[in-house]
Amino acid sequence: MTRTESEETAVRRAVCPGSFDPITNGHLDIIARAAKLYDEVYVAVMINKSKQGLFAVEERIDLIRQVTGEYGNVRVESFHGLLVDFCKQRDIPAIVKGLRAVSDFDYELQMAQMNNGLSGVETLFVPTNPTYSFLSSSLVKEVAAWGGDVSHLVPPAVLSVLRERLPRP
Ligand code: PNS
Repeated sequence: MTRTESEETAVRRAVCPGSFDPITNGHLDIIARAAKLYDEVYVAVMINKSKQGLFAVEERIDLIRQVTGEYGNVRVESFHGLLVDFCKQRDIPAIVKGLRAVSDFDYELQMAQMNNGLSGVETLFVPTNPTYSFLSSSLVKEVAAWGGDVSHLVPPAVLSVLRERLPRP
């Protein structure tokens, strides 16, 4: 099957969705890899009103912009609603997600199948760098709250705001 001219020139877009409260090196690794594979990568900070975050959505966006600025093809936005609607409104056919371990798989598969059933959007799973296979924003916040060293787990910009927000015990 030959590709039409418009298919050949089409911008390839993907989205990396999440809560990013705050962004970690694990998230950043997945975003950086997606940015190599796609022309435009959206980072979607999905708003969940029932979940009180440590950082306000605008703060999360600001941090993500600071640490992804060097890639040049990454856009950061927040969204309140279904991820498939975010994708539809921006003509994004693919969701890129990191898989840390088998334990992530069950829920991620459910979401991928639901999203595909709702709108046809595809989900591509990227195996997390083993260095970050245990990493989550929640664990980073917990360790940092008790004065543990998380400097190797988050970008420097995130480390400094974490230190301000979570005074040492
Ligand atoms: O970083 P998280 O909290 O693990 O990310 C989960 C997230 C935000 C990607 C997921 O909850 C999501 O897509 N929420 C948006 C609402 C939605 O589309 N729900 C249906 C998922 S099938």
